[in-house]
Amino acid sequence: KMYLEFFQKNGHKVIANASLVPENDPTALFISAGMHPLVPYLLGQRHPSGRKLVNVQKCLRTSDVDEVGDSNHLSFFEMLGNWSLGDYFKEESITWSYEFLTSKEWLNLDVEKLSFTVFAGDETTPRDTESARIWEGLGIPKDKIFYLPREDNWWGPIGNTGPCGPDTEIFYDTGKEPCGDECKPGCSCGKFNEIWNNVFMEYNKTPSGEYELLEQKNVDTGMGVERTVAVLQGKDNVYETEIYAPLFNHIIEQS
Ligand code: ALA
Repeated sequence: KMYLEFFQKNGHKVIANASLVPENDPTALFISAGMHPLVPYLLGQRHPSGRKLVNVQKCLRTSDVDEVGDSNHLSFFEMLGNWSLGDYFKEESITWSYEFLTSKEWLNLDVEKLSFTVFAGDETTPRDTESARIWEGLGIPKDKIFYLPREDNWWGPIGNTGPCGPDTEIFYDTGKEPCGDECKPGCSCGKFNEIWNNVFMEYNKTPSGEYELLEQKNVDTGMGVERTVAVLQGKDNVYETEIYAPLFNHIIEQS
């Protein structure tokens, strides 16, 4: 409710959760991200609710199934998302994420526990120095901003083709000991809980594998409800939150 309210205050229209079974999309069996039902609009079709949207979307994701069962990967989850369909871009997106996470009026998280990753760039698409500069402008020290490669900081497309782009990810330090000298945001040991991903969808991946610039620059963000609840309830994993604990307790009692 707070998330929807925050983005409504900032000019977004709430759209309904779409069916978990995609409509008119033969490329996927299930909706796997908040942006999934919005693909035609990210590609330029006009959305009846406008260019700034927000919602909570139920998702079923199998692409990272090998990680399901660690501290924060679920096959079924709910995703908070806000979108710009050719409206605002990096500056507003990052600034709003920062405000929602750290402002006393909203989630009031300790900024000291947050860290950030941005796309390092490669031979296909450039390094995202702009996102790093925006985080720095908000007071984030350089040593809390990490440049990571495509496998970490590039999102999409959902199938083989479609909208995609570099992303900046926001992590919350659970307080666990680092797993080694190389432990940093993006590490799979569970110390850093990725709570929000802001994707700057300005590319379309074509059937021949090329990245062409879209006519409009979009923003697609995804914030995991279960992960965020874990942070707010002081848990280092999603299973101990009030979302799952009663279910596990019931199973324990019955068995
Ligand atoms: N589409 C992005 C994700 O699912 C936000 O992480």
